[in-house]
Amino acid sequence: MGKLYLTGWALVMVGVTGLSYADSYQAFMKSPTPESAFEYIHQVTTHPRCVNCHGVMKDGVQRPMVGDDSRLHPMNISDVHNLRLKVEGKIFVEVANSSQPVNCRSCHQDANGDAPGMPPGAANDLMPGFVWHMPPPTMILTRDMGVKELCEQLLDPARNSFLAFRGGRNDLKTFKKEFDHHVNDDPLVRWAWEPGPGRTPAPGTHADLVKAMQLWTSAGAPCPETAL
Ligand code: HEC
Ligand code: HEC
Repeated sequence: MGKLYLTGWALVMVGVTGLSYADSYQAFMKSPTPESAFEYIHQVTTHPRCVNCHGVMKDGVQRPMVGDDSRLHPMNISDVHNLRLKVEGKIFVEVANSSQPVNCRSCHQDANGDAPGMPPGAANDLMPGFVWHMPPPTMILTRDMGVKELCEQLLDPARNSFLAFRGGRNDLKTFKKEFDHHVNDDPLVRWAWEPGPGRTPAPGTHADLVKAMQLWTSAGAPCPETAL
């Protein structure tokens, strides 16, 4: 009896360990559900490759960051140097910013520099003209933001200009269309898996992030109930 009891517990333990992954990407790959999909989206979104360009508020100024330790961008770069883009037809064009001759594009080109410490860069034909720049401060992402916090931010019509301002959680059809497009095509999102020499790529693969995003948006973009 005692032996059977112990064996039972051993099986339970194996079962429990078998289901818990330190890595949300592995958990999603093993068992793809809308919940595990969003946890993988969260793992990617809070990675330095995504967080660094979305920037941090410091003394009232939004600043990009660099490196796996997300330190402030050298040379005092801030949103003062940001580019503004507008869409003309299907092409993004720069809005002239006469007050600031130095901007992100002065250093960040269409491809990565070929040595560590050189400026990264990205561009593609899926979103022509969508070049290296920072989003508005309402879209700041942080490395320690919770799963629920991120979910609420993405769906909040007041915070996100392109995914949610056409409805967000009030218009999930448009949200899905915009989010699909953004994750699939955006050269800056894709860059996170090809970040150039000396930078750790975002977890998993771009193709798997696309799968996770499609699973999550097709299920109606559910947010977790508890703050994980
Ligand atoms: C004067 C040149 C220059 C300008 C202007 C500039 N950058 Fe950079 N940027 C660099 C260099 C050089 C690096 C590489 C630093 C490193 O890897 O240590 C870099 C790295 C970065 C990274 C780091 C990526 C990562 O994950 O490690 C981000 C994000 C970034 N820049 C964003 C911006 C944004 C946004 C702007 C415009 C608001 C901008 N930069 C303007 C030179 C510049
Ligand atoms: C080089 C800078 C840069 C990098 C790197 C970057 N982003 Fe962004 N991201 C932007 C810009 C700029 C926008 C805003 C476009 C706009 O709406 O004006 C944006 C917007 C977004 C939005 C949409 C918010 C909205 O409502 O439109 C999400 C979600 C997002 N990024 C996620 C990511 C993820 C995930 C990664 C990493 C895999 C990433 N970003 C990497 C610059 C960057």
